[in-house]
This record gives sequence, C-alpha cells and structure tokens, in this order.
Amino acid sequence: MEFNKITAAEAAALIQNGDTIGLSGFTPAGVPKCIPAAIAEKAEAEHAAGNPFKISIFTGASTGQSCDGALSNAQAIDFRAPYTTNGDFRKRVNQNELRYSDLNLSNMATQIRQGYLGEVTWAILEACAIEKVGQKARIYLTAAGGISPTVARLAKNGIFVEINAFHSTKSIGIHDVYEIEDHPFRKPINICKASDRIGKPYVEVDADRILGVLECNIPDEARSFKDPDPITSQIGQNVADFLLYNLKAGLIPSSFLNLQSGVGSGANAVLGALGQCPEVPNFNIYTEVLQDAPVGLMKQGRVLSASTCSLTVTNECLLDIYDNIDFFKDKLVLRPSEISNCPEVIARLGVCALNTAIECDLYGHVNSTKICGTKMMNGIGGSADFAANAYLSIFTCGSTTKGGAISSIVPFASHIDHTNHYIDAVITEYGVADLRHKSDMQKAEALINVAHPDYQPMLRDYLKYAEKKGGHTHHELSAAFAMHDTFLRKGDMRLTDLAEYIK
Ligand code: COA
Repeated sequence: MEFNKITAAEAAALIQNGDTIGLSGFTPAGVPKCIPAAIAEKAEAEHAAGNPFKISIFTGASTGQSCDGALSNAQAIDFRAPYTTNGDFRKRVNQNELRYSDLNLSNMATQIRQGYLGEVTWAILEACAIEKVGQKARIYLTAAGGISPTVARLAKNGIFVEINAFHSTKSIGIHDVYEIEDHPFRKPINICKASDRIGKPYVEVDADRILGVLECNIPDEARSFKDPDPITSQIGQNVADFLLYNLKAGLIPSSFLNLQSGVGSGANAVLGALGQCPEVPNFNIYTEVLQDAPVGLMKQGRVLSASTCSLTVTNECLLDIYDNIDFFKDKLVLRPSEISNCPEVIARLGVCALNTAIECDLYGHVNSTKICGTKMMNGIGGSADFAANAYLSIFTCGSTTKGGAISSIVPFASHIDHTNHYIDAVITEYGVADLRHKSDMQKAEALINVAHPDYQPMLRDYLKYAEKKGGHTHHELSAAFAMHDTFLRKGDMRLTDLAEYIK
C-alpha cells in the first residue's frame, strides 16, 4: 500500500480531549467502524485514570452502535450534529448529558464550511479503495456520501481512512462527489434528472493529508425493517390512491414526480406498497436514504433510477447490489448530503416528498422529532429539506401508536418541525386529509376524519370548546395539550376528560 498503515488504537491515541472528528457515512451506512470504537475505549481508559476526555462529532446523519452507541456509553461526546437514530445516544441526549444540534441535513456541510460549528480536527472516512495519483489521493467511499468531501478537505490535522473489504470495489463509480461552492459564489447545481452526474466518483485530497490507512472487514451496522403490517399496508395503499387521484385530475404531471421517501419501517412499507400498485407509473427517486423496498422495485423495473445519499439497506440487500452492480451502475447515484437534499434541486426537479410524522395537529402542523414536546426521538433529518421544497408534500403516520394509547392527530402538536405551509396532505390508515385549498377550520375537519375513531369524538369536542374562543384558527389553549398531559399522567390519551382542562 502506498499509504502509511495505522491501527485503530494508534489513530485514537492521536485524538485529544476537545477535538472534533468529521465522519463519512449517513445513517449507519458508510460510517467508519474501527477508529470511533477505539476512541470510545480510549475515553473509558482516560476517565478511569481521572482525565477528562470528550470529543465532538460531525457526521452526515446517524452512525451505528460502534460509533454513536459506543461513544455515548463511554460518555465521550461533548457535541454532536446532526440526526441520529441510536438508542444509547438518545438516552444520553434526553438526560441532557451532551450537546446535540439537530440540523437540516442539507445544511450540515455548509455550516461546517461557514465555521459556525467550529473546526474539524480529524476526518475519518470509510472507503472500499484508495489510490495515489500523482500528488493526490482518490478515496472511493462505501455506502454513503454524507459530508465526506467537506470534512476531508477541512480537517486541520488530516485524514484517516478505513478500507473496509466488506464493501466491494465493484461499487467504484456509484458515487458522484461534488462540493457546493461557498456563498456568494455558488453556481446552479446542474442536476436535471435523478440519475445525472456532475462530480467525480471519488473524494480527492492531497495525498500527504492521509495520515494513515487501516484495513478491516466489517458489515454495515444496518437495521432490519419491521415487516409491513395491515396498518402500514393500508397507509401505502392510501398514498398510492392519493397519487393516482392527483395524476388523473392532472394535478401532477402525467410523467409523474420524483419520489422521496423518508426513513423508518413505515416509509419502507409505504414505498413498497406504492410500487406494487399497477396504476402508479414507473417512477424515479430523488431521496436521501434508499431502503430495501425501493431497491427491490428497481430490480422489478418499477423504479427507473434513484439518487440518494445512502444505501440504508440490510446487508443482504447491499451485497445483492454489489453482486448486480452492472444493473445498478447507471441507475443508482450516491451523493453528498448537501446535494441529495439540496433545496434548489428538489424544488426544480419536482419531488413528491413522503415523510413520517410523530404527530400532526388539527391545523396540519407536524412534529417529527420530539415525543410529548420534550424527548428527542431521532431528529429532523432531511424531512424539512424535502417537505419545504416539494411539489407535493405528504406526511404519513399510523393514526395511533403504543397500542392505541397515543393518538397521532392531536389538538396542538407538542413540538412543530413542519408548519402547515409546507404540507399538502396527511395520510393515515383511515384515509387522506388533503389540506390543499382549505381554510384552517376545513383542515381540522379533514384531519379529524383520518384520526382513529376512538379519538374522533374527543377531537371534535376540542374544536367545539375552541370555537367559543373565536379567531381564524380556533384553540382553547388551556386544553390544547390535554391529551398529552393525560398520557403523561395516566398512560393513555383515551382517558382525557377535556372538561377538566377548560378554564
Ligand atoms: N408519541 C410517542 N411515541 C411515538 C409517537 C407519538 N406520537 N409516534 C411514534 N412514536 C414512537 C413509536 O411508538 C415507535 O416507538 P418504538 O420504537 O418504541 O416502537 C417509534 O416512535 C417509531 O415509530 P414507528 O411507528 O415505528 O415509525 P418509524 O420507524 O417509521 O419512525 C419517525 C417514525 C417519525 C420516528 C421517523 O420517521 C423519523 O425519525 N423521522 C424524522 C426524520 C425524517 O423524517 N427523515 C426523513 C427524511 S428522508
């Protein structure tokens, strides 16, 4: 190998208390797995010796257990941005033990460049190969684009590369690496269809910035998906019916829209169901995470091409992509997150955004991040990048969760990530609340109709109380969070007695 070899422990030994690491990857896909775990071990040893040791982490989105999980458990994180789904990290965040900044994913690389987040000390990238060409090093990323080009370029002390043989070198060519210029010199991003390529298939840096390369063979820390259940299947069918209605009514172009689909089992099931609906034409995907269901649809010819930041798929699915790379190469493009989620491109291409809500209120404001307004679930991810710029912005959710004890349709969302200005429809298993061309009060009626029948009378009663207060949007503020409060006190929103709250 033309580069200095290094072990994970040797790299971790160089990383000091107060440093910031910039990581490749987006979701557990493409995240370096050896050096972060070694940093966690170092942190434990330093803490045992009575020394302070905390670092900051900049990533594309989530990482896996060997990074967010191990570093949280070692109490080694001072600050982290952006999104993550890791349960151990979530626990620490909700105990307020570390600083978490939940940014729109399209903004992460820009904010690093702007310097708001402070300096990147080290970049750690996972690659399937690295080569030296003249004075330059070409780093071939694995299953995600993330913020790799930015942290590789800006890392003050240099770059470590983990060559992970689990990722086939056959995938070389799948990435399109392009970094946006700084303001005010930004140029238009010349992507006119999902499969367009505008950059290089590798991250290029000066070769002397590569401090060390280590070799490993570790599967991605992918999550498996819950199988579709009758509720997610029904939501998928309702989404498909809504899109067909729009198509037939000429409200979306007959060539259809590029689809974006959010994270999670629900989103995976919705896209699967959509692909199975014969009346939905073959479509293209412009998204940030490609999950198993759309990969299957690509193989069936239902999805024609896909632009994504990551292959957030099961390892079985990932290896299948590598085995069939000749089929996928001209149809699948992995991009840095600032491009996969770029508001300018999303707005111009015409995207149908399908995201999942935690809860939605009677006027169509959506909470994607905070349980009962306080406990962080995962983060906003790219949902706002897409929802705010989409041609058609849809949020889906089951009408209830936790065995029916929580309604997803509530009088007032306990936290708002997406205002109703950016939401065209909310879809549950009970149908479609088409919010377009409706006043706030009409939106409320449409949303009550897709709430679970157990909660519809309570929501209607709330509106009756609220109506007495008048205004354009009716609210009885003393009872606006009665359902949440009852859940927190009694464990079940169905036990809510609105009259108790009315002042
Ligand atoms: N109150 C309390 N808990 C709730 C809830 C609510 N209103 N709504 C959902 N939850 C809980 C579920 O019970 C479940 O808990 P569990 O893990 O203990 O079973 C968990 O949240 C996940 O919900 P689930 O129904 O399994 O949906 P999901 O896997 O599709 O995830 C989100 C839903 C909203 C958490 C997820 O989509 C997300 O993080 N979204 C924000 C980021 C985003 O949209 N990115 C997309 C851009 S591509």
